[in-house]
Amino acid sequence: MALKRLQYCLSVLVLAALPAVAQEGHGITPADIQRGLFTYASFCINCHGPDGDQISGVNLASGRFRRAQSDNDLVQIIQKGIPGTAMPPGAYTDEQANFLVVYLRSMAGSAKSKRTGPAGDAGRGKAVVETKGQCLNCHRIGSQGTVAGPDLTAIGSTRRLAEIETALLDPSAEIRPENRPVRAVAKDGTKIAGTLMNQDTYTIQMLDSKGKLRSLYKSNLREYEFLKTSPMPNFKDKLSEQELSDVISYLVTLKGLR
Ligand code: HEC
Ligand code: HEC
Repeated sequence: MALKRLQYCLSVLVLAALPAVAQEGHGITPADIQRGLFTYASFCINCHGPDGDQISGVNLASGRFRRAQSDNDLVQIIQKGIPGTAMPPGAYTDEQANFLVVYLRSMAGSAKSKRTGPAGDAGRGKAVVETKGQCLNCHRIGSQGTVAGPDLTAIGSTRRLAEIETALLDPSAEIRPENRPVRAVAKDGTKIAGTLMNQDTYTIQMLDSKGKLRSLYKSNLREYEFLKTSPMPNFKDKLSEQELSDVISYLVTLKGLR
């Protein structure tokens, strides 16, 4: 199935990728990309997925790699694997490895396919996050912001690109179990909102909007509910296409504290 889909996409991909690589003067032909594609479809797709984003924190189609800068670094990873991780070594010749790299590089051109937005700029995205987007009113990044929503310090390693996009453009589509918003009203009428941490028959543990961990006895509550809609605003209409691309570009660079 995945292979069929890849083959189907190939003509589009090759056409899209060709002008960019041709400009670089490496003399890369569609046949080279196709050879890489077939190797990818045989040996990589089961783990990395047809779009290269199936492993959380790794996005082969982003053109950005955590562990590689140059094409040569990529060849090394492909041949030697990444010791201590599930990324296996493979007995690929230099030529086969190079075709794989050509294919990975060509994927970058198609990585934006989920959104047809303009190319983003991480620097501008950081500014949008800190000002217009008001993201730090609810999120923490490094030492800045608050903890009303999930910490985004390492969002670029823990979530795939498509998940980050969905979080911004359709927040209620997928709320992770660990981010479930809960709203409770105590018997005395006090309203408490926060993120569910845990619950059992008698109690609910939540992180309230000030970042304080609370344990509430259900018997002390007038009502409580787990929200199906995210408190996170939908940014589809709040930010321009350019700003959204910028913010997404910034978020994928957030790989945790170094
Ligand atoms: C058995 C599963 C598996 C297979 C098969 C596999 N990979 Fe991986 N790969 C991984 C995992 C897991 C990681 C992440 C390792 C880490 O950094 O923790 C990874 C990481 C990578 C990275 C580094 C990404 C980065 O951001 O630095 C590259 C490049 C890569 N794989 C390419 C490939 C290619 C090309 C193939 C096919 C020849 C392949 N992988 C086959 C599991 C796999
Ligand atoms: C009113 C508070 C609020 C604001 C403002 C807000 N968020 Fe959120 N955000 C949340 C909450 C709560 C969640 C967890 C529920 C969910 O997944 O939708 C969340 C989830 C997310 C996620 C998914 C997290 C994960 O672990 O998968 C991302 C990414 C994100 N927000 C980014 C942003 C960015 C970027 C901005 C600014 C442009 C922003 N948020 C503004 C409250 C907010």
